[in-house]
Amino acid sequence: MISRSTVDAVFDASRVEEVIGDFVQLKKSGSNFKGLSPFTDERSPSFMVSPVKQIWKDFSSGKGGNAVTFIMEHEHFTFPEAIKYLAKKYGIEVEETEQSDEQKQIQDEKESMFLVSKFAAEWFAGQLKTGEGKTIGYSYFNERGFTDETIEFFQLGYSPDQWSAFTDAAIKAGYKLEFLEKTGVSIVKQDKQFDRFKGRVMFPIRSMSGRTLGFGGRILKTDKKAAKYLNSPQSEIYDKSKVLYGIYEAKQEMAKEDLCYLVEGYTDVIQLYQAGIKNVVSSSGTALTAEQIRLISRLTKNITVLYDGDAAGLRAAIRGIDLILEAGMNVRVCTFPEGEDPDSFAKSHTESEIKEFLEDNSIDFIRFKSGLLKDEAAGDPIKKAGMIREIVQSIAKIPDDISREIYVRESAAILDIGEEVLFSTLAQMRNSELTEERKKQSRDQESRRLQKVPEATASKPVDRREILERSLIKILLLYGDREEIFDEEYIQESGDGELVMEKKKDTMLVYEKIYLDLQNDEVEFSNDSFKNLYPKLIDVLLLQGRIDVNTVMTELKDEEAQLVADLIMDEDRYQLSRWDEKQIFVKQKDDTVAIYLMDTILNFRRLMLDEKIKSLMSGMGKDDDDQRLEIMSQIKDNLGLHRHLGKRLNRVI
Ligand code: CTP
Ligand code: MN
Repeated sequence: MISRSTVDAVFDASRVEEVIGDFVQLKKSGSNFKGLSPFTDERSPSFMVSPVKQIWKDFSSGKGGNAVTFIMEHEHFTFPEAIKYLAKKYGIEVEETEQSDEQKQIQDEKESMFLVSKFAAEWFAGQLKTGEGKTIGYSYFNERGFTDETIEFFQLGYSPDQWSAFTDAAIKAGYKLEFLEKTGVSIVKQDKQFDRFKGRVMFPIRSMSGRTLGFGGRILKTDKKAAKYLNSPQSEIYDKSKVLYGIYEAKQEMAKEDLCYLVEGYTDVIQLYQAGIKNVVSSSGTALTAEQIRLISRLTKNITVLYDGDAAGLRAAIRGIDLILEAGMNVRVCTFPEGEDPDSFAKSHTESEIKEFLEDNSIDFIRFKSGLLKDEAAGDPIKKAGMIREIVQSIAKIPDDISREIYVRESAAILDIGEEVLFSTLAQMRNSELTEERKKQSRDQESRRLQKVPEATASKPVDRREILERSLIKILLLYGDREEIFDEEYIQESGDGELVMEKKKDTMLVYEKIYLDLQNDEVEFSNDSFKNLYPKLIDVLLLQGRIDVNTVMTELKDEEAQLVADLIMDEDRYQLSRWDEKQIFVKQKDDTVAIYLMDTILNFRRLMLDEKIKSLMSGMGKDDDDQRLEIMSQIKDNLGLHRHLGKRLNRVI
């Protein structure tokens, strides 16, 4: 672990403009620097660096932060990796907190294993150029349609069909048998040694940073007894639950496209890549794990699962979905035609055909799951109840409250069920899962503490009002200064004195809209933290026209600053901005923030009406008939409004 004082020294020494200047051409612009966003393909610069505040902000992707977070984002480094990088740049000695002898030995051993793996990958790749490797291995890849360029890029190779051709070569080149055995490329039995992958074509499996960790080897003979694919055994450097085939090759494109395609096999990855779909990885035959998802989440929060058009593929896809949701990521599913897998499909179609197919057939998990279950449950109320539970079970796994709420609405519409039913089922489930989640959280915290990764705290409001209040504050923070067009309805008096409903489009700044509507509705925040924060944020927006998070935070009390950081830094922020960009639910791009805000405000109104109706009801016990009648008519009016709001809300979603 890196010592606290090293981390501090790195923070002190790093100049954000120098750090970023190594990657982005920056031009002075006022007191700031400006450049082209390294995260998107933009033509006009919207990437800003402030040397005064020591922060950066990329307006095209919405990302921003300090020197360290830039390196983490740009290089896909973990926190310690970024610190080490900057330490090197600024000539700061990295002080590791004490490593025991045992730890040191493991470190050396791992290094040796990496070296062996590197040698092996190069040696196997070299075999394709001559003799048996060329006639058998290279022809095989050729037949599958892989070009020379592809073969080289993925460092594909061949292990000759001889007992110890590789092992002998490695020993001759000076590699110790001990490490050949530990990495699993060689098998040692008594005084004999063999090649594990004899007679197979080789797929090296690399880490995010490009080091070879292990191999997958495919058999070429049709041998019923031998497994089609043989993988490296579990070792100090290879853990199949923590690797993703293709991650090194795909990482740049995954971050750029902000999307990860997940497939089942090695050849699916390679074939798609060759066809021009480069943001693709494979869990290589194992069921997707939480660790693998975490790897992806460093690059993007959006996963589309591509699965074979058969029953086994379907089951695999469903299993993966909940895990992805649990990680707070957005998941879509794309089914291939019966009998096809991504490999065969990519081989027989052009890049634009594949892209079009993926675009047209990727569906949101809610639609996917409800589509599957809807047919099964048609006309059977008991099955339908079961189906609802299953879908809500998936929704309950989503950590972010806003996304959860949106999904409930979405599925209510698709399944044609009252939202209330789904919300109450969800509440039950979350309650029983919350205890489990707490346990998990404390485990996560511990592991983050150990890795020194800054923690993304997510407080979990449970009541509906708090969820709505939280959304409003978040919208203020993230989009307060945006100008949006809102659909509004006004009650107007027409020429002949009738009251009519008039629809209008209002162009307004988001924070004005929030401020005016809340004032109009006489809404007050009930949560104390939000109540304190709200007028301060409005003030900043009024005075400065925008919220500069770093400045605002320095002016807030500790716990308020913490709250702001939580709100914008946690997963939620990502999902909101994602939602904004790719509009999973809303067709028209520019509408998203406006619609989202309207939705929140209308829900707020409905909640207030609920409360009002309840309190009116409790006044019904009055003796006075006139009073009772008056209350009754008020309740009726309010119920009418309530229904009307419900209708509008359905339209919004
Ligand atoms: N797999 C494995 N061990 C096996 C079979 C499969 O590890 N005995 C993994 C491999 O990573 C493989 C993936 O599961 O790529 C998917 O298996 P499958 O669909 O059977 O293989 P394909 O990728 O279609 O391979 P190919 O096209 O070469 O037959
Ligand atoms: Mn295949």
